Amino acid sequence: MRKITVVGAGNVGATAAQRLAELELAREVVMIDVADGIPQGKALDQWESAPVEGFDTRVTGSTDYEAARGSELFIVTAGIARKPGMSRDDLLKTNADIVASVSREIARVAPDAIIIMVSNPLDVMSYVAMKASGFPRERVVGMAGVLDTARYRSFIALELDCSVEDIQALVLGGHGDTMVPLVSYTTVSGIPLTQLLPTEKIEELIDRTRKGGAEIVGYLKTGSAYYAPSSAAVQMAEAIARNKRRILPCAAYLNGEYGQEDLFLGVPCKLGEEGLVDILEVELTDHERGELEKSAEAVRSTIAKLDLD
Ligand code: NAI
Ligand code: 2OP
Repeated sequence: MRKITVVGAGNVGATAAQRLAELELAREVVMIDVADGIPQGKALDQWESAPVEGFDTRVTGSTDYEAARGSELFIVTAGIARKPGMSRDDLLKTNADIVASVSREIARVAPDAIIIMVSNPLDVMSYVAMKASGFPRERVVGMAGVLDTARYRSFIALELDCSVEDIQALVLGGHGDTMVPLVSYTTVSGIPLTQLLPTEKIEELIDRTRKGGAEIVGYLKTGSAYYAPSSAAVQMAEAIARNKRRILPCAAYLNGEYGQEDLFLGVPCKLGEEGLVDILEVELTDHERGELEKSAEAVRSTIAKLDLD
């Protein structure tokens, strides 16, 4: 790609920008933020790492969207992060206003771009971005499932004392306490997890995954996770920038898939140069389908709290 812009040069955004540059996913990486000096300073600092890290991606920062003009891909991390004791929904209204204005700016300077949404509450912010930008669903995808699945895989690897590379898993649903880790699709080198761990242990790992974001907030106290979240967003960016057609759990706008419509929910997606190439509908047990329905209801009720037309 020629240009990728990260909006929000905070913890997730700046770490994502550095990862994008190190992978040379575009000729230029731009960071945009409202806090003057932050995107410029962090971008210059990152560019100064280029000779050591050996990348040629130019990293620049600005408060002006003109710098982002013509970007093919945006990663949106603008907003405020969760503080201890604060639920993702507490962030709702503030972040909805921020994300709506950011999305309108994106549509103005890059009407053909693809948006990867990161700001919370994720599924709702993806919806706000699609409405405010006027982009089709192919060009707005949300990052949550890759992170939630990575957390789940990392906990399984710790428990089994084996390589994370050998663990395949899928976490669907909304990014919140109602996420749906699919035990029936969790394997270790093809071996069902249920053959390797007792049910109670699997339930423990699922519970830790559901609370994965809060666990990090509990440690950091003044912010939320950003190393794993930025890795997850950049994995999606790589699938798009390199047209890899990877199948990753992402928040996508549903048009009847999984019996849901007019909302974003985490489902298995194929990502490529068009953005969302396809949504894969996998078989679910009655229990999993029920959990996904509950998760959809939670997202739907949060959307309803916003005055969107
Ligand atoms: P942060 O506070 O470090 O960075 C946010 C940045 O956004 C700040 O630099 C701030 O100045 C900037 N910002 C605020 N309003 C803006 C605007 N109108 N335009 C451009 N920039 C603006 O927060 P952090 O840790 O980077 O998190 C960012 C967002 O990502 C939060 O909403 C957080 O909850 C969410 N998040 C989502 C995850 C997911 O799985 N989807 C995982 C981790 C974080
Ligand atoms: C997380 O899961 C805060 O949503 C963010 O870490």
